[in-house]
Amino acid sequence: MSVTVRVPAKVNVRLAVGAARPDGYHDLANVFLAVSLYDEITATPADELRVTCEGPDADRVPLDRTNLAARAALALAERHGREPAVHLRIAKDIPVAGGMAGGSADGAGALLACDTLWGTGAPREELLDICAGLGSDVPFSLVGGAALGTGRGEELTGLEVGGDFHWVFALSARGLSTPAVYREFDRLGEGMDIPRPVADQAVLDALAKGDPTALAVALANDLQPAALSLCPELGDTLAAGRAAGALAALVSGSGPTTAFLALDAESASDIAGVLRASGTCRDVRTAAGPAAGATVLN
Ligand code: C5P
Repeated sequence: MSVTVRVPAKVNVRLAVGAARPDGYHDLANVFLAVSLYDEITATPADELRVTCEGPDADRVPLDRTNLAARAALALAERHGREPAVHLRIAKDIPVAGGMAGGSADGAGALLACDTLWGTGAPREELLDICAGLGSDVPFSLVGGAALGTGRGEELTGLEVGGDFHWVFALSARGLSTPAVYREFDRLGEGMDIPRPVADQAVLDALAKGDPTALAVALANDLQPAALSLCPELGDTLAAGRAAGALAALVSGSGPTTAFLALDAESASDIAGVLRASGTCRDVRTAAGPAAGATVLN
């Protein structure tokens, strides 16, 4: 018997970042939108905990106990006093180290897959609590849809979305480490007065209306200057997508994936074609959001 869970990637349509806290984290007002790029995690009984990964970027995924899928299985097993005797197979489609919560998706997916396989029946609150312990973006991977994340991003309030938003994602040849991008954010902000992060009402209204033109003028990512500082060539990708007709272009989360908001699915496909030919990125994907959170497939 095995259990397969499908988990979406995310894009941040507003990532407002406050000053570094004493614990090193940053308070956020983080508006997440789940999009239709998915990893699938299959849990099968095994003699001991084992993680394998397949997909184009599989060689860049750690298979040891630093993998969030492994950590999720260990955390659930420990809470319920059982052995984490499971093989977790990750079918990876979300860009690795790309700012789209691919690692977080695998953590949330493995948690739900193990809970189902083992019949643990952990209440939703417990699953969310384990997710928050695994990483700031992991609770959102479980929940999906659209949500405002406060605290370090793990305290979620669900948001209404009035329609589908169509996106193009340009994948970079290299990855960016999230802590390195936050460190660069701190360095660039040294000596400056960094305001308390808030989610602009205009972003929430545009989401609620399902209005891409309104969202395009409201979306913003406070980590973008830091990501561009570490990866200046992303400026060329952003410019190429804007020139191709994107309503808006921004770095996704901590990057280096860049995200382009399109008017509709047809426009997204046109922008993807132009970006693919531009020579400014490694690969291009289209996706729509909101997408459902972690879902058991069998
Ligand atoms: O929570 P998570 O383990 O995903 O965070 C990875 C790193 O990103 C943290 O160690 C920290 O450097 C940075 N981070 C932050 N503030 C947040 C979320 C993440 O500084 N709200």
